[in-house]
Amino acid sequence: MTKSTTKIPIASIIFEEEIYPRKGIDHRRFGIFAENIRDGFKFEPIEVEPHPDKPGKYRLLDGVHRWSAYKTVGMMDLEAIIKDLKGSDPLLYAAKKAIGPKQLTEDEARDTARRVYNKNTSLSSADIGKAIGRSRQTVDSYIADLRAATQMGLDIKMFRMNRLGIPQDRMAKRLGVKQVLIHNHLLKMPVLANSINTDLSRGFTVSQVAEKHNWTEPMVWSLALEDKEDLERFKELGWGLRTWDKWEWHDCDKRFGDDWPGRIPAQLIAHILYYFSKQNNLIFDPMAGGGVTPDTCLALSRRCWAFDMQDQPETRPEIEPHTWTHSTTNPLAWPVSSKEKPDLIICDPPYFDKKAADYDKKSISGLPKKEYLEFLEAFFALLKQDAKKTTRLAFINADWRDFQNKPAAEESGKGAILIDDYLRILNKTGWRHTHIIQAPMSAQRFSAVVVSAMQKKRILGVTSRYVIILKQ
Ligand SMILES: C[S@@+](CC[C@H](N)C(=O)[O-])C[C@H]1O[C@@H](n2cnc3c(N)ncnc32)[C@H](O)[C@@H]1O
Repeated sequence: MTKSTTKIPIASIIFEEEIYPRKGIDHRRFGIFAENIRDGFKFEPIEVEPHPDKPGKYRLLDGVHRWSAYKTVGMMDLEAIIKDLKGSDPLLYAAKKAIGPKQLTEDEARDTARRVYNKNTSLSSADIGKAIGRSRQTVDSYIADLRAATQMGLDIKMFRMNRLGIPQDRMAKRLGVKQVLIHNHLLKMPVLANSINTDLSRGFTVSQVAEKHNWTEPMVWSLALEDKEDLERFKELGWGLRTWDKWEWHDCDKRFGDDWPGRIPAQLIAHILYYFSKQNNLIFDPMAGGGVTPDTCLALSRRCWAFDMQDQPETRPEIEPHTWTHSTTNPLAWPVSSKEKPDLIICDPPYFDKKAADYDKKSISGLPKKEYLEFLEAFFALLKQDAKKTTRLAFINADWRDFQNKPAAEESGKGAILIDDYLRILNKTGWRHTHIIQAPMSAQRFSAVVVSAMQKKRILGVTSRYVIILKQ
């Protein structure tokens, strides 16, 4: 940790209760300090760190009473040590400093231990104990219930990630735990599966079992359908198999994937998996959003590596955070170093600027048309480079027409991106299409009022959506 002493404005210092280990400020104490300052007494410098979210500001780590006293006597600047904690927990650091002059009370120690553990469950009781001045056993007793809940949550996350074939080193990184811990937990997985299987064999439904054990439905399906052929799985899941190249559903199956802007039906993913992959194949979804692909892969027993820029570590640990960026200084890069290549890539990017307001600012839906297409071209080239000769690509997209509230006959077509524009760049990057499947979006999302207004104005809407299947 680096250390420097410098004069900084008192107004630039922020006191944040969430990193303060005591119950409150002792007003008598800082009153005495203020008197001492007026009498010319010089205190040790306070400690701050650069504020992580507010540039130019500092957050107080140690010396809240001195800082309050300086403010009370009307000083503008003070001497401070600016710390770089290099990722260490600021609350733990503040607690360590606080026990110097005065031990934390029982309540304060317990509360600090719980807050610190909640923020970082990989901290050991010994580390927390050292910082707050308590033994490891005492800290164990403070956090026993939190640790039990975390272990259970961790087991469930590991089960899901393991079932999807995510390697242990990536699981450890994603869950913030040591790889050996993953290894030990995975040994417990058969026991975890047993209790689910027992309830299923007693005749409980998948949703009842999921609720009872706090599992997601797709995880329970992955056990309930174990050893079954794909067709039997379709039947059990209630998905009628489409034999022809028009795949249409009125609604998304709510059991799979989250309510997500631009969500696609699990039935659509299931059909791609059925026709273009086999059980245990590795599926790759680079923009997985609400997780419909990994969920469907669980039900159909495929492995799945999924990524998205939007990070949801608690609910979607299996979707690893990754932002695809493409510029001369920061070229597109493959997110993992594993040698294994996918058997099938399912790519469902934002349909140009549709839903741009719902995605992160850095989403490709915020790009102008030219840059959006350039991104896709570089992206398809990267997918090809990191695929096997036999890898299939399933690219999902729709016509994007620039209606501008105009009758169909008056549309110039100038700003549009049509499906053949995508085909052109796919072909240019070495992908040859073998199938173009129609998978229309539901028109039910439009209200009767909107439909009637469109009809009067002769506006021709878009519900067409396509799944283009390609190989090299
Ligand atoms: C159409 S949605 C995918 C929806 C998903 N198939 C589902 O059914 O839930 C497109 C996703 O692309 C992600 N995305 C957009 N730009 C991205 C980028 N540059 N890097 C990573 N993800 C990106 C968005 O966060 C969004 O979740």
